[in-house]
Amino acid sequence: MTNFSITNLHPKLADFKSDVIEGLSQEQKRLLPIYFYDEEGSRLFDQICELDEYYPTRTEMKILTQNASAINDLISEPATIIEYGSGSSTKISSLLANSQKIKSYVPIDISLEHLKKSSLDLAENYRRLDVRAFCADYTDQDSLQNIANDDDGNSKIIFFPGSTIGNLAVNDAIALLKNSRILTKGLGQFLLGIDLIKDQERLVAAYDDAQGVTAAFNKNILVRINRELGANFDLDGFSHEAIFNSELNRMEMHLRSLKDQKVELLGQEFTFTNGESIHTESCHKYSLDTFEQFVNKAQMTCQNIFTDENQDFAVVMLRYLDNDL
Ligand code: AVI
Repeated sequence: MTNFSITNLHPKLADFKSDVIEGLSQEQKRLLPIYFYDEEGSRLFDQICELDEYYPTRTEMKILTQNASAINDLISEPATIIEYGSGSSTKISSLLANSQKIKSYVPIDISLEHLKKSSLDLAENYRRLDVRAFCADYTDQDSLQNIANDDDGNSKIIFFPGSTIGNLAVNDAIALLKNSRILTKGLGQFLLGIDLIKDQERLVAAYDDAQGVTAAFNKNILVRINRELGANFDLDGFSHEAIFNSELNRMEMHLRSLKDQKVELLGQEFTFTNGESIHTESCHKYSLDTFEQFVNKAQMTCQNIFTDENQDFAVVMLRYLDNDL
């Protein structure tokens, strides 16, 4: 296929074993959310996205579809869209279907098989588009530099939907925005999906659904540790918890120990007191009033904000502060 290429930049595999041991050795025990996504975790996450309580996915899709032509108006021609964590490349379709200005699509993902399949399908559906996929870690500056070297001269728009930026610590989120300059040279735009602060009851329900899918997603990390690292976590000895931390404006997921217990893992013993938690994920929520100040820290500004009628979610077109577009 002439309009398709894939480059494997061999993203460094995270070290599951040492990350788990390090996380469980902290005073506030923690496990990194990247480890949710084994095969079962990815299946459960897809199921979460379909839940009534989990509004972000469908709300973002609606915002993108309803505003595709306004978004197209903001783009200079010819344009290249670079998507961070492209997964199944579903959200990009609403933009591609409504824009003749977009000439190239550069999906970046760490899962080679997933990337190969979804980007090839996309190249087949959009023959006019040049699809250049990269198996890479979009938080790694060297990988971004490699991708930047493949410059086609088009204006660049980075696309990072899903409010995945909210799963990063605040400083890491700012660093991610700043590092995007490696790809855009400060002359492009950044189209970002963010989840907005709202009624706490709705937030908690989105992360603690009635069917228990999110609870299973959270506990699956213990299933994975038992299977892959030979640990003996008692799955009934922990409960799923979703709480809103109003000081830090974030939803937090925890696994709370229901008793005093010991867990063995690779010859080490970890003790849990009754009520002690393992922090597994943070999902930052933003306010439109303060979002400008947040992106200013990355030398960026909001060019346009698209939101739904309830202001549940926003898709923001950012540009660089020294951008003379
Ligand atoms: C992937 N990420 C944006 C999801 C979120 O809402 O923070 C992950 C998730 N965790 C529980 N439900 C969904």
